[in-house]
Amino acid sequence: MRKAIIYASVHHGNTEKLVKGIAATCQVNLIDAVKQSDADLSSYDMIGFASGIYFSKFHQSLLGFAEKNLPGDKKVFLICTYGGSANYKSIEQILDKKRSKVIGKFGCRGYDTFGPFKLVGGIAKGHPDEEDIKNAVEFVKGL
Ligand SMILES: Cc1cc2nc3c(=O)[nH]c(=O)nc-3n(C[C@H](O)[C@H](O)[C@H](O)COP(=O)(O)O)c2cc1C
Repeated sequence: MRKAIIYASVHHGNTEKLVKGIAATCQVNLIDAVKQSDADLSSYDMIGFASGIYFSKFHQSLLGFAEKNLPGDKKVFLICTYGGSANYKSIEQILDKKRSKVIGKFGCRGYDTFGPFKLVGGIAKGHPDEEDIKNAVEFVKGL
């Protein structure tokens, strides 16, 4: 089973920390969609999309990447880190169009200093933590 995780992590590297934690234990290729806007995904059996949540959406670079590069009929899993709450709608809209099947979703909190949260030193400090990474690894192993 060849797996790839395409990710975008632009705020505090929270999502990158999580996917690197997954890649340290599971056989998975990581692709940073902020640095790389194209890749051939045809040889992967499972494809993950991982992102922070920005204004209730996955990062624009990741949405653009999925729109452009995700072949139809692939098994897809979703991962996000968020300050307040997970929201998968933006990526799911693209996956619907591609007739990709979502086989699992995982989200956890990520350190957030956006806007007013900066004034209080941020929220979800320290996340994702070791427990979050352990849970994410379990999630990927269970797919
Ligand atoms: C511009 C901006 C907008 C954000 N919007 C949301 C949001 O709508 N909902 C939410 O729960 N968190 C929001 N957050 C918090 C991030 O989702 C959270 O910190 C996430 O872990 C960032 O991941 P990253 O460090 O991998 O970029 C926002 C953060 C930024 C910088």
